[in-house]
Amino acid sequence: MIFELPKWYDLHVHFRQGDSMADYIQDHLNMGCCGALAMPNTKPPVSHVHGKNTEEYWTVESYLKDMESAGSKAFDDIIAPLYLTNATTKDMIIEGTKSGILRACKYYPPHGTTNSEHGAGLDTYINNGVFAAMSDAGIVLNIHGEEHGLSGEEYFGEQSNAEDSFYKNHMPQLVEKFPNLKIVCEHITTKTAVDFVKNSGNNIAATITPQHLLYTVADLLQGLKYHLYCLPLVKFEKDRTALLEAAKSGNVKFFAGTDSAPHTTKATACGCAAGCYTGGIAPQLYADAFNLNEDNFDEFKKFLCLNGPQFYGIPVSNKTFTLTKKPSQPSVASGAIPLHIGLGQKNLAWTLTL
Ligand code: DOR
Ligand code: ZN
Repeated sequence: MIFELPKWYDLHVHFRQGDSMADYIQDHLNMGCCGALAMPNTKPPVSHVHGKNTEEYWTVESYLKDMESAGSKAFDDIIAPLYLTNATTKDMIIEGTKSGILRACKYYPPHGTTNSEHGAGLDTYINNGVFAAMSDAGIVLNIHGEEHGLSGEEYFGEQSNAEDSFYKNHMPQLVEKFPNLKIVCEHITTKTAVDFVKNSGNNIAATITPQHLLYTVADLLQGLKYHLYCLPLVKFEKDRTALLEAAKSGNVKFFAGTDSAPHTTKATACGCAAGCYTGGIAPQLYADAFNLNEDNFDEFKKFLCLNGPQFYGIPVSNKTFTLTKKPSQPSVASGAIPLHIGLGQKNLAWTLTL
């Protein structure tokens, strides 16, 4: 079985900063990507739009140039969202939009995930006019949807967790206040989030990672497979099933965004960095999750290649790559450990050819 697909956009990825960026971009090119949305939780954060980098912040303008020097010219398009912080103003949004450099902004729950300490609560941007300016300008809000500041049972419990609580207690009010704001609910992991997105207007969409389609918290815990530790955490079978159903439904609101996140040191003596590296291997993992076949090829193509560009208003690539149901052992250009190796698997079930 050989499946030919248009080159695709990874609409949620971490290319970081510095020397390794070129290798991470190469891994993405090697897996048939024609573009990406590169997240701004770098050190320092990409929290201003125009001008030169400083010690405290980087700008979207220079980050785009850095990525260009590291190989992103080979993509058809690349989006670099602005990291929303206490320093974000509505004028930044208005001017950034006018210049064409600003296309999206990322909300991080303060202290909720890797390099998210610069984020402020949702109320900040509701009250200071930032979300209103984004809504007026048609700028996309990328949301890391987890309630911050929770611990214990509230953070991850039998009945609820930080993501459940965010989609139940915060998203409805946000959407009611800004009914036209375009929002991508990033890397959703729960049935609650799937239902929220399904039942919202067409301005609300979601990315889904390969790991959340393939695995549950049991896979993480059995053998403490820390390469599967990412945030939001992998959840339960009912959640995985809901995510898989949404991805396989062909619904335009759901599309690929890997959240591929390299960490040079993953586990330490007292904790673990959050993030799974899926550069070089993501279409193969998505194909595995779908159990890709002739009957669901159309829906797979929509999820991987069509729905995302449609939401962002970017053209679908006219270049192609193929996936074949044949075991492969892809090597990654970067030193990062790809997820399947981290989980002790030698082969991928699919082979990708450019
Ligand atoms: O697992 C994650 N890793 N989740 C995030 O939200 C951030 C990412 C990273 O930057 O490593
Ligand atoms: Zn991410």
